[in-house]
Amino acid sequence: MNTPALRGSRILGFGHHQPARILTNDELSTMVDTNDEWIRTRTGIETRHIAGPSDTVTSMAIEAARNALADAGVTPADVGLVIVASTTHRDRAPYTAGRVAAALGLSPSAAPIDINTACSGFEYGVALADQAIRVGSTDIAVVIGSEILSGIVDWSDRSTCVLVGDGAGAAVLGVSDEAQIGPVSWGSVPHLEEAVLVSGDPERFSQEGRSIYRWAITEAADHARAAVAAAGLTLDDIEVFAFHQANLRIIEPLVTALGGESKFVVRDVVESGNTSAASVPLGLSKAWARGDLPEGVPALLFGFGGGFAHAGQVVTTPVRAR
Ligand code: ACO
Repeated sequence: MNTPALRGSRILGFGHHQPARILTNDELSTMVDTNDEWIRTRTGIETRHIAGPSDTVTSMAIEAARNALADAGVTPADVGLVIVASTTHRDRAPYTAGRVAAALGLSPSAAPIDINTACSGFEYGVALADQAIRVGSTDIAVVIGSEILSGIVDWSDRSTCVLVGDGAGAAVLGVSDEAQIGPVSWGSVPHLEEAVLVSGDPERFSQEGRSIYRWAITEAADHARAAVAAAGLTLDDIEVFAFHQANLRIIEPLVTALGGESKFVVRDVVESGNTSAASVPLGLSKAWARGDLPEGVPALLFGFGGGFAHAGQVVTTPVRAR
């Protein structure tokens, strides 16, 4: 078989998009029996963005991808693969990646793929894009996470509606002589298979919050460590921690367990709530756009949630052209 040897991939740029409407904890307190103090102390969330009538999973994915391509300095015609991770996209066909490919004017030979591994979707997408680039299927790929969780939450259920937000984040990956995306460490947790549900008619999001919380603060760290080991690095090498933005009360103990307190930690859950597959690229892209994200350093990505699936890998953050 003819596969190119010694190819790797790297991240060339980030982009994101969030709906204009911001919903505060105080406003939520007028809708359900909750309060700012409970939400902040239990989750760290202060605000979330909520989709308006013209926002869709597809429209936000397109904007995030467009911004990521501009950031990377890549023209759409050069993209050979677009992967959209989402658990809230509406149509089975045409599916989101196909619509994104058409809207961005990608080449007819570009592959559009939707994936759904819920909150870990972006990390699965990065792994698949990296592997596609490594074997020579494409030189450039766009990986997007896009979600409208506000559309599947029960707005009268205070245990879930305070947690979620909407948005999209994207990364452009390109071929590289030096591998800057480490091997993925992925898997699932069979006893939590039913712990996160998006089901019913109309579809509704529900979860066993306590069981997931317990798993996240006891077992997730080992899976994150496995991703670091797979990259041939140690935790001391990691300069950026970007975990699924479900709850600050999960992110902080995970970072502590991994000895990362003095490093750069993505805490976008505070501003954006839980945006499932979008949460990691959204948080990274916002930090990148602000100029806060350390450049050219190892970053540990780790996602977990519905399925119950998890995935993580070490990536090198991009370096801004100067
Ligand atoms: N405002 C005020 N009180 C509330 C609210 C609210 N919004 N929601 C629940 N409560 C009450 C409950 O009714 C309960 O009251 P009681 O003690 O009188 O029965 C009390 O607060 C405690 O409720 P718990 O659900 O036990 O609260 P907990 O401390 O477990 O926090 C939370 C809930 C935030 C969901 C937490 O369990 C968690 O973050 N779990 C992990 C979730 C996760 O990571 N999911 C990831 C996959 S899904 C996805 O990302 C889309």
